[in-house]
Amino acid sequence: MNASTPSPAQNQASTTSLYGGVTNRRVTVRDLAAAKQRGEKWSMLTAYDALTAGVFDEAGIPVLLVGDSAGNCHLGYETTVPVTMDQMVMLSAAVVRGTKRAMIVADLPFGSYQESPAQAMHNAARLMKEAGVGAVKLEGGERSARSIELLVEAGVPVMAHIGLTPQSVHALGGYPVQGRGDEAAHQLLRDAKAVQQSGAFAVVLEAVPAELAAQVTEQLAIPTVGIGGGPDTDAQVLVWTDMAGMTAGRVPKFVKQYADLRTVLGDAARAYAEDVRTGAFPAAEHSFR
Ligand code: KIV
Repeated sequence: MNASTPSPAQNQASTTSLYGGVTNRRVTVRDLAAAKQRGEKWSMLTAYDALTAGVFDEAGIPVLLVGDSAGNCHLGYETTVPVTMDQMVMLSAAVVRGTKRAMIVADLPFGSYQESPAQAMHNAARLMKEAGVGAVKLEGGERSARSIELLVEAGVPVMAHIGLTPQSVHALGGYPVQGRGDEAAHQLLRDAKAVQQSGAFAVVLEAVPAELAAQVTEQLAIPTVGIGGGPDTDAQVLVWTDMAGMTAGRVPKFVKQYADLRTVLGDAARAYAEDVRTGAFPAAEHSFR
């Protein structure tokens, strides 16, 4: 076995929990497939920088998504639409550098894959070669099937994203719940089956009725990752700034806030400014002799 040959451990899907079982290598698509077989639910969080990604990696989050939600949650845009490939490559490379164990999935941003499967391949290759991610995500069901097929044939693991697709915010007129009513529900099922048929290893279901997400999950062999899809999907994903209470203003109904970092950081900044104003900082222990 030479240095580039995978060790037996790298070749095997984890048979124990995704949290406890995969500690000496990155999580792979085979681990996620095995988790679905076992009925083990898993979590995914977004990350946009090395430090935050490192915290989530150490916490045992098995999959980190460098989402194009970086547009509104990290780069100060109103939507995901303006995010560019160069920005996604830079953020993704940072997340890869900050982690050891999580699978890193990067979004193909708006305009980087819709023209043709060849365009999708060109940009997916950039994310894999320049940033080192393990998989890419793209939006669309039947409409993206040909691109998914080409990427998968070329060896790119693809996570699909259907239901509410935020890159279509202007066409949708906002962020409405998807899949309501018979025709829309049937289309969602067709989209889910199309991405599975094309070779996607998982599919995000965003903002769809819980009952429909459960039905899709039951009918698919690949894991479903819900965000606003109720409790019965195989996995859940949240935008980290929503999950940790960094987001300013209202968050979507499907968010559970597990911390109040905006208050914690604001309080820290105010205490620091006050110490500087009063001369309490820096003290003797922060000064050189
Ligand atoms: O960009 C993103 O963060 C996403 C998640 C909401 C799934 O696509």
